[in-house]
Amino acid sequence: MGTREIFSFLRSWLSDPAAVGAIAPSGQALAQAITGEISAASAPVIELGPGTGVFTRALLARGLCERDLTLVEYGSDFVRLLQYSFPSAQVLWMDAGRLSRETLGDGVKAGAVVSGLPLLNLSPRKVVAILAGAFAVLRPNGVFYQFTYAPVCPVSRPLLDRLGLKASLMARVIRNVPPASVYRITRRGPLRLVSG
Ligand SMILES: C[S@@+](CC[C@H](N)C(=O)[O-])C[C@H]1O[C@@H](n2cnc3c(N)ncnc32)[C@H](O)[C@@H]1O
Repeated sequence: MGTREIFSFLRSWLSDPAAVGAIAPSGQALAQAITGEISAASAPVIELGPGTGVFTRALLARGLCERDLTLVEYGSDFVRLLQYSFPSAQVLWMDAGRLSRETLGDGVKAGAVVSGLPLLNLSPRKVVAILAGAFAVLRPNGVFYQFTYAPVCPVSRPLLDRLGLKASLMARVIRNVPPASVYRITRRGPLRLVSG
C-alpha cells in the first residue's frame, strides 16, 4: 500500500470509523478470494465501497478493464484516490443504497457486484436498499459478493427471504487482519424479482 492509500485510509477512518468499518484495508488473500469467480466475462462489474482500491486491483488482475468497472464510494477522500488511481473507471460519489438502473446509465447489466460495505454497521432498511438496488442492475445469473468479519452471513435469513435471495459461504480467509469470510448472494429463483 502506498503513502497516498495510507493517508486516505487514515483520514477517512478518523472522520467516520463506522462507515469505514475496518481497522485496515483488506489484504491480498481476501481480495483474491472475493474476486476469485470473476472474469472478463462478468463485465461490467460494480464495486461497492472500494475504499483504497484493493479489490479493484484484484479485478483488473483477473482481466477486467478499468472502463468495465463502476466504483461506488461514499467517502470523499477515497473518491479522490480512486479517480486518481483508476482514471478510466466510472467512479460514483454516492451512497450505495441509491444504486439504480438510472445511476448506471448505459443499461448494460452487471455480471457481478463486489461489496466491501460494512453491512453490519448499517440499518436493515439501508441493507435492503443496497441489495434491491444491486439486484436491479445485475443480470439474472449475476452474483453479489460480500465479505464480513462476523462468523455468520451479514445479511439475515429473514431479510434474504424477503428479497428472494440466498447466501452461501464461499471462503474463510484466515490470512487477513482481522480474518474474514466471503459470501456469494444470488437470486433464489430465476423468475423472482427483487424489490425494496
Ligand atoms: C470496510 S471498508 C472496505 C474498503 C475496501 N473494499 C477494502 O476491502 O479494503 C468499507 C468501505 O465502504 C465505504 N462505504 C461505507 N458505507 C457506504 C455507503 N453507504 N455507500 C458507499 N460506500 C460506503 C467506506 O467509505 C469504505 O470505503
